[in-house]
Amino acid sequence: MPKLRLVIMVSGGGTNLQSILDACASRRIDAEVALVISNVAEAYALERARRAGVPGVCVPAGRRSGTAEWEAAVSQHLALLAEHDAELICMAGYMRRLGPGVLQAYQGRVLNIHPALLPSFIGAHGQRDAVEYGVRISGCSVHFADAQFDTGPLIIQAAVPVLPEDTAESLGARILVQEHRIYPQAIQWYAQGRLRVEGRRVIVDNAPPPTIMEAIISPGLDIPL
Ligand code: GRF
Repeated sequence: MPKLRLVIMVSGGGTNLQSILDACASRRIDAEVALVISNVAEAYALERARRAGVPGVCVPAGRRSGTAEWEAAVSQHLALLAEHDAELICMAGYMRRLGPGVLQAYQGRVLNIHPALLPSFIGAHGQRDAVEYGVRISGCSVHFADAQFDTGPLIIQAAVPVLPEDTAESLGARILVQEHRIYPQAIQWYAQGRLRVEGRRVIVDNAPPPTIMEAIISPGLDIPL
């Protein structure tokens, strides 16, 4: 079976990229990373790509989405995606918007991961915003990307407790462990053709029941059950 060709868009450390590379290498998912695109030249994600023997390129995209440099990046993205026969684009900590041209050309073929339980805490600081708000449970979400930030149909989510002593960093680390589980899973469902979008809802064919390692009640109970 030919493998699904992924292009991963990154801006930072690339631990999600790594989890996808590992899942491909161990054949837990029927996919291969064809290209990694970073908007940050020194992103460690590019080093991860190099170590995995995967092509990686830096396409600077300006200081903000919408700038002239960003527009130029969007044209370059389209050329690179075509050149590498991209079948699925995975944003994994990519801190700019994708161009509308890319979203149109790859409609229904772009995924994103967000470090909060959407629709809560959209934007660039999901972990910090959850801690500041005082929620007791947060998590992560993989969804189809649309023209807005963090608003497309949800494929899979995982929840973790927020502890009283948590900082954005400690909560972020707890959430990342789950990100590394749910992103490869979402990609595999896509590769298997098991995802269908109906309005806001994503139907997963033959979806397994929720994986419950332990129920999350946060803070915990100290009355007897
Ligand atoms: C992750 O928390 C992801 O959800 C968010 O940015 C972070 C990227 O981490 N969008 P990494 O670069 O994959 O380690």
